[in-house]
Amino acid sequence: MTNLAQLIQDLPKAELHLHIEGSLEPELMFELAKRNELDFPYSSVEEIRNAYQFTQLQDFLDIYYAGMSVLIKEQDFYDLTMAYLKKCDEQNIVHVEIFFDPQGHTERGVSYKTVITGINRALKDGLADFGISYKTILCFLRHLSEEDAIKTLNEAKEFIELIDGVGLDSSEVGNPPSKFKNVFAMAKEAGLKLVAHAGEEGPPEYVEEALSILKIDRLDHGNRSMESESLIEKLKESQMALTVCPLSNLKLCVVNDMKDHPIKSMLDAGLLITVNSDDPSYFGGYLNENYLAIQESLNLSKEMIVTLVKNGFIGSFLSDDEKNRHLDAIDLLV
Ligand code: HPA
Ligand code: ZN
Repeated sequence: MTNLAQLIQDLPKAELHLHIEGSLEPELMFELAKRNELDFPYSSVEEIRNAYQFTQLQDFLDIYYAGMSVLIKEQDFYDLTMAYLKKCDEQNIVHVEIFFDPQGHTERGVSYKTVITGINRALKDGLADFGISYKTILCFLRHLSEEDAIKTLNEAKEFIELIDGVGLDSSEVGNPPSKFKNVFAMAKEAGLKLVAHAGEEGPPEYVEEALSILKIDRLDHGNRSMESESLIEKLKESQMALTVCPLSNLKLCVVNDMKDHPIKSMLDAGLLITVNSDDPSYFGGYLNENYLAIQESLNLSKEMIVTLVKNGFIGSFLSDDEKNRHLDAIDLLV
């Protein structure tokens, strides 16, 4: 291992953009399909993996929603989340803020309670067993209506203490942030943090809407912000955290080559950039593989790696005291 690869492994890290359903490995998918006695279109783990060829976001989403249909029982959501936390423990990820997509389950007849209690029980065990702290973010599917999102938020209110924020994911183009203005205002009123995917495939105007209409606390992806000087200035001025996902961007053809990834220019522009894995089972790597990919392709320095790792904590929803404790621990290591 090179020195920088070792540093990436050794530094305590935070992950802020992770769809828990996107961490479902083909092996577990296959096992759950069997356990739940489901008719499953794939006959082997290899066949599932071979289907992971994407040229745009929608190709991935179609397979992602089909894949998550094996999740039925509370124990399935527990096993899914625990498998991710074990990976975090191996990769020295000490804080996670995970997304989940309740509408991907409730529309199949799985209750919100089943989803959130399974995920939460694993997160509590992960804190006890591995010392991994956590936040949870309920994402609304933007291809569905705002009315459906409001219904989901109302379902979540019975278990409001189990979530920390709401987000917006799924098919971006044609579903601008403004479509969800009211439900985001309701979530803010309920004391929740606000994040949204914007500028992954959608234009810079969608990022503008997420900032000014949804009033987000953090921006997911945000790559296409780089097309607008005024937006770059706004993001820099506010030190809005961006959760960038390099391997996802490569697999979904947001960039054609990792050497063309804008993360270095984003850092150079003074933006608060964090590195994340998005849907690691589908995009070919967990958090450390994302750091390694950009380090190697863009020749990132040790200082840049340390800045990105620190930004993961600075951009998190931890308290200032907790952030400082993590930042001090990193300083002691470098
Ligand atoms: N973009 C939009 N929706 C998603 C993603 C993503 O990268 N991953 C899971 N749902
Ligand atoms: Zn995402």
